[in-house]
Amino acid sequence: MHVLSCPHLPEAAYTPLGSEVYRGLTSTPKTLSPWLFYDAAGSQLFEQITELPEYYPTRTERSILAAHADEIVSTAAGCEPLTMIELGAGTATKTGLLLKAAVLRQGEVTYHAIDVSSTALDEAKQRIEAELEGVAVVPRVCDYTEGLGQIDAPGQRRMVLYIGSSIGNFEPADALTILRDLRKDLKPGDKLLLGVDMVKDTETLILAYDDAAGVTAAFNKNVLARINRELGANFNLNLFRHEARWNEECSRVEMHLESMIAQQVSIPALELELTFQRGETIHTENSYKFRDENVIEMLERADFHLSDHWTDEREWFGVYLATAW
Ligand code: AVI
Repeated sequence: MHVLSCPHLPEAAYTPLGSEVYRGLTSTPKTLSPWLFYDAAGSQLFEQITELPEYYPTRTERSILAAHADEIVSTAAGCEPLTMIELGAGTATKTGLLLKAAVLRQGEVTYHAIDVSSTALDEAKQRIEAELEGVAVVPRVCDYTEGLGQIDAPGQRRMVLYIGSSIGNFEPADALTILRDLRKDLKPGDKLLLGVDMVKDTETLILAYDDAAGVTAAFNKNVLARINRELGANFNLNLFRHEARWNEECSRVEMHLESMIAQQVSIPALELELTFQRGETIHTENSYKFRDENVIEMLERADFHLSDHWTDEREWFGVYLATAW
């Protein structure tokens, strides 16, 4: 008789965190998925990143939305009122600009804010409803496109906001799958507003991911601290160095954690003993940077067509309005 044998893995290896850490750190080269950054400490560090002088994407996208909110909303709405739905809304700090423009145009607007963090959504609802009369915030605690199809807006046109260049943290094939899944939940004529970070000079790109104050380094290393906290590992954060690299061929900034010496690390909850060579890295994030033609092609492959797009003076960031067809 042929008996299939399954390797025995500890229980922690079947949790979302444990299985990702097990998979990533037993692979060659070692990797960790960027969603692991965002525990409470990591989310706070990310908020700090968005305010750094070197980290231009957040403020550049905000400036585009501030300059063009009325035009974006009127192009998206056409003759119908808009319902807005934001994927990965977080605390929705930039969305107010678009909501304000929609209120001016149509008097009232419903805003469905989707995020995995209920605390971020509660904060967004309180702040937006206090600041903007006429906006009804409907928080939805779920993952990305999950639940999008259930958002009915009779007599209204839906505009899905996927801003913040989060699409750039996915591999191109996965980014396309996300847009296609999203498209399946929309009707012809519904809109997508996509924010993406554009290719630019390498120095600017690298500095945005390796700031002088070391906040991005702390954000990157927090993933090791998280594995120490949650899986009892003994990573010594002083023996890993944060590194940001521009990968020209793949058009992406990569973040790595480089082991500064040959060392062993244990992760007791996963019954893992890891060996690091000196100079070996854990690849923790890709942040893809786009050219106009890449965005248009990606949208078309997901059955959207481009309606309009806006950028800043330096063309560092792009906001694309696409229509489902
Ligand atoms: C969330 N995302 C769009 C950020 C980015 O720029 O790729 C994450 C980040 N990683 C380091 N700094 C910011």
